[in-house]
Amino acid sequence: MLKIRVPATSGNLGPGFDTIGMAFELYNDISFELIPSGLNIDILGEGASEIPRRENNKVFQAAKKVFDKVNFSPSGLKIILENNIPIARGLGSSASIIVGGMVAANELSGKRLSDQEILKMAVEMEGHPDNVAPALFGGVTAAVSGISSVDYLKILPPRKLHAIVAIPDFQLSTETARQVIPTMVDRSDAVFNIGRTSLMIGALLKEDLALFGKMMEDRLHQPYRMSLIPGMREVFSLAKEAGALSVAISGAGPTLIAFVVGDGRPVAEAMSKAFTQQEISCKTLDLYPDL
Ligand code: HSE
Repeated sequence: MLKIRVPATSGNLGPGFDTIGMAFELYNDISFELIPSGLNIDILGEGASEIPRRENNKVFQAAKKVFDKVNFSPSGLKIILENNIPIARGLGSSASIIVGGMVAANELSGKRLSDQEILKMAVEMEGHPDNVAPALFGGVTAAVSGISSVDYLKILPPRKLHAIVAIPDFQLSTETARQVIPTMVDRSDAVFNIGRTSLMIGALLKEDLALFGKMMEDRLHQPYRMSLIPGMREVFSLAKEAGALSVAISGAGPTLIAFVVGDGRPVAEAMSKAFTQQEISCKTLDLYPDL
């Protein structure tokens, strides 16, 4: 049986809407085995009671895109998903499933597609590259979808940097969280985000973590999503008071992510306290440098 491990990811990182993403040491494991006939899907962990086990399963659909592309017809397929990434919380569960299904299918069918081809197909299926790129390559990625390819840059995260994620106990679909964002933006807001995204990447390359934290503000999506995440304003302000370098919505939310250097416990406690009305779980995640 072939097992593929895919990391959780956080998209956007504040200003890098649909572009910047980061991988963590939290994983889904996706196993594939060729069997004589049929489709047999077993799901353990997160989403075990809600994820379909038939042809409409996302891992299978992702795998099928690869099989169709390389003209490979498996006689039958057994899939086991061991899910540790919470579903619809802004931690890249969808990207991990798409990337895992495509990489596993590519391995089973003779590894005929390059990473670049897998990336392009995964972006087409997910709709934006900020989660699938770090899910495939690890680290921090900046990725842009072009007509014929997806251009990306991977940066190894500074070792001193840690993330604290506060994960509320409710799901927020990316579709819903995208509907609240205006389709037109003010020039001043575009400039605000372009400047911060550029400096954030430069700060990571230079390991200037104070500058990295300072550049995580956003005007393109976070202000509009605040209404979907009760307590967000308080979490941002208490986490910063407790020493966080920066705080952002993880992906489309509802998880909020803070970055720290050193002991993250005061920030984790502050985030839990600020999310008053809800059950939340706070985790410290190590950044995942490589595959
Ligand atoms: N960039 C995406 C968004 C990430 O913010 O909608 C969610 O998948």
